Amino acid sequence: MAEGSLIRKMFEEAGVLKAQYGAENVFDLSLGNPIMEPPRAFFDELQRIATEPTPGMHRYMPNAGYPETRAAVAAEIKDETSLDFTANEIVMTCGAGGAINVILKTLFDPGDEMVVFAPYFVEYRFYADNHGGIPRIVPPDDDFLPDMKAFEAAITSQTKVVLINSPNNPTGAVYSASVLGTLTEIIQRKEQEFDSEIFLVSDEPYRKIIFDGLDYPHSFQFHKRSIVATSHSKDLALPGERIGYIAVHPDYEGRQELIDGLIFCNRTLGFVNAPALMQHIVRAMQSVTVNVDEYQRKRDFLYNELTDMGYEIVKPQGAFYMFPKSPMEDEMFFVDRLKEHKVLVVPGRGFGWPGYFRLSYCITDNELAGALPGFKAAIETAVG
Ligand SMILES: Cc1ncc(COP(=O)(O)O)c(C=O)c1O
Repeated sequence: MAEGSLIRKMFEEAGVLKAQYGAENVFDLSLGNPIMEPPRAFFDELQRIATEPTPGMHRYMPNAGYPETRAAVAAEIKDETSLDFTANEIVMTCGAGGAINVILKTLFDPGDEMVVFAPYFVEYRFYADNHGGIPRIVPPDDDFLPDMKAFEAAITSQTKVVLINSPNNPTGAVYSASVLGTLTEIIQRKEQEFDSEIFLVSDEPYRKIIFDGLDYPHSFQFHKRSIVATSHSKDLALPGERIGYIAVHPDYEGRQELIDGLIFCNRTLGFVNAPALMQHIVRAMQSVTVNVDEYQRKRDFLYNELTDMGYEIVKPQGAFYMFPKSPMEDEMFFVDRLKEHKVLVVPGRGFGWPGYFRLSYCITDNELAGALPGFKAAIETAVG
């Protein structure tokens, strides 16, 4: 419990501070809960469905989800990747978190290993543990991209999964085609060496939140044993609705057994199926995204302000997080310093990478601007 609660702890502390000093005087950059509302098209579709309900629309369905929704998802991925996706390769899930658990439950035998790149979304360790898998943590290079030498050394005959997350929480890093090329070249070499199958699992709920016109290279283009886990929690701002999906590479020879396993685990983990109402809605929204320019504007504002103050930050290319270096060696002290100025962020060790801290800028412009004096005072006292 102590290990797993750093983000929640900050959230609770924010509640205490707000009660004490007034909500408008506390600046909470600790949670990845977007303040943006879902796009207008979401409410239109919700209203249309509510006024024209079809019989059976709230009943049980196939455990993989509605064929029409899976087909709509497949069409969007086919369009993005030019690969031959059909509804068969899609399983609708309860968010990306549900998707990853279903994938790991399907793939892991006891003692199998999963490579995870630091800094990482903290739940990964618990997800691996849920299904008897062992996480192997690989450190980053200076740009928060995988240290490829360490990656190669981390793969063993027991490695079943390599889990990537781009755009990344907590750094905002996006893996380029060249990074994915090197990564998969190493995976394929190791598969030959160990005569094994290694699955590249790409957790990509931030796939559409990407800045500066960057391209998003799909893992599917690099490795046949690729599985995507994703959701509409961030791109449609629907995290409370728990709607996501798994997509399996259409050219992977063993895909039918894998997909059957995924469907079985979606059922037996107790999810049964992804929420029906949301499946009806997102079917029509595969090419809709929240206003990404808003996030880019907030990134630019905060990045420019903080770097002017002297913070060292690798500029995020996507998602809505930044991972600045702590001006004090032990980031726990600096996070406390910020808290004294009513600014809440999460210590880097919450993501397996101490010496840094994460801030979340999916908050209002007023809150962002309000946090600046606290950031300035904290860095001045830390280095002064
Ligand atoms: C990297 C990453 N993966 C997965 C999730 C879980 O997403 P969902 O709400 O769709 O389960 C999150 C949520 O913040 C995340 O940041």
